Amino acid sequence: MTDTNYIDRIFAGDCREQLRELPDASVDLIVTSPPYADQRKDTYGGIHPDRYVDWFLPISAELMRVLKPTGSFVLNIKERVVDGERHTYVLELIIALRKQGWRWTEEYMWHKKNCYPGKWPNRFRDAWERCLHFTMQKDFSMYQEAVMVPMGDWRNSRLRNLSETDKTRDNSRVESGFGKKVANWVGREYAYPTNVLHLATECGNRNHSATFPIDLPEWFINLFTKPGDVVLDPFMGSGTTAVAARHLGRHFTGIEIEPSYIAIAHERLKSVQQAPLPLEAAPIEVAPKHVPDSGEIYGRPKDDRRRTRKARA
Ligand SMILES: C[S@@+](CC[C@H](N)C(=O)[O-])C[C@H]1O[C@@H](n2cnc3c(N)ncnc32)[C@H](O)[C@@H]1O
Repeated sequence: MTDTNYIDRIFAGDCREQLRELPDASVDLIVTSPPYADQRKDTYGGIHPDRYVDWFLPISAELMRVLKPTGSFVLNIKERVVDGERHTYVLELIIALRKQGWRWTEEYMWHKKNCYPGKWPNRFRDAWERCLHFTMQKDFSMYQEAVMVPMGDWRNSRLRNLSETDKTRDNSRVESGFGKKVANWVGREYAYPTNVLHLATECGNRNHSATFPIDLPEWFINLFTKPGDVVLDPFMGSGTTAVAARHLGRHFTGIEIEPSYIAIAHERLKSVQQAPLPLEAAPIEVAPKHVPDSGEIYGRPKDDRRRTRKARA
């Protein structure tokens, strides 16, 4: 495959083969939800948990090749229960991916707000999944302002009368190294979010047994890309990542092994309007270094914020 003919297309087939067709360093973000070990083996097959890491590593090697150095790889996954205990294949996969050269930058939690109630003898209902964030280098593209959330009503009461402690950086009394300056929040409408995403599961029947909610890829697309960038999903399913990308003015590319799911994805894409975009993704600007300033949500240096705005322009 050459030039840009991989853009805004879903390729039919096994991503272990199809990924080889994508050019080096051609995508800005990978968001995907692969088959979770041998769950759903009746619908689209599955991989035995004991073989999961061996199955995934050749795929992730290709993902590393096609991702731009400043890009991100978000892997939505959850370990299944085998013989009454959690299997460790996700934990083993994280370690194996690090050995492969990925940086395990962060773990986001997708809290499924509307998961089914149920009763199990040795656990409670499962209400969350992992969204593992991998990168290839410490500096990567990240547009934090794009996912800010309203501060909420509490700011009116909490910030009205500031104590002396609130006006200076208040280091944690348990010596955790964390600290905050509450006064920094005065006059702010928005705050940076946490790493927990509270999203409902997809309830609409999309004729696919494991569709994730569109808000999930949208959130990561907003956070890690800018308009015109290219988003890849090598396990495209019913096309949720592609729909999210198009909706947000990004390009998509994807692979799906099951033709009937590709048909669903094409049908969904028909109803999404996208502003015309250049086929070439906009030139990459290395994103500001993320400066986690535990608790001090506005602690990021001002010049970093300027660079982010410039990158988004
Ligand atoms: C968890 S589902 C993804 C669902 C998708 N996120 C959505 O919202 O519809 C995993 C998908 O991977 C596909 N798949 C499984 N093995 C594959 C492979 N080797 N190459 C490409 N696609 C594969 C399955 O057919 C299934 O649609």
